[in-house]
Amino acid sequence: MAIQRTFSIIKPDATKRNLTGAIVAKFEAAGLRVVASKRIHLSVAQAGVFYAVHKERPFYGELCEFMASEPIVVQVLEGEDAIAKNREVMGATNPAEAAEGTIRKEFALSIGENSVHGSDAEDTAKEEIAYFFSGLELVG
Ligand code: CMP
Repeated sequence: MAIQRTFSIIKPDATKRNLTGAIVAKFEAAGLRVVASKRIHLSVAQAGVFYAVHKERPFYGELCEFMASEPIVVQVLEGEDAIAKNREVMGATNPAEAAEGTIRKEFALSIGENSVHGSDAEDTAKEEIAYFFSGLELVG
């Protein structure tokens, strides 16, 4: 399996509850390295661009408002098979369906306030990383 990079967000519900370190510890324990990280506060419009793929969904407005409600931590994670590994560590989108030991099982509040986002494929990982980070900010 190849070394990959993937994009990760620690969402407002988690930063608000001071869970940033606990979540990063889960990634690191799974063998993922944080090669870029910053804490930012998105506008609703910036969240809307990031989640544009969901703009026809009924929850789009609520999702963008939520993502702009508090600071978030955006990160790039690197490791073997990082895209799939990150999704495994995060658990299912809906915390009610997430496996034991996953971030969402342990920390998420609901399907909307689900503590973390992670890229779902190589092309989206590249696009999402490029939306938030310049090449100079990626330090492997
Ligand atoms: P994420 O992995 O960030 O990708 C899109 C997000 O939309 C998802 O996590 C959820 O937080 C959110 N989402 C998905 N389905 C719903 C829903 N039914 N209601 C509210 N938010 C949702």
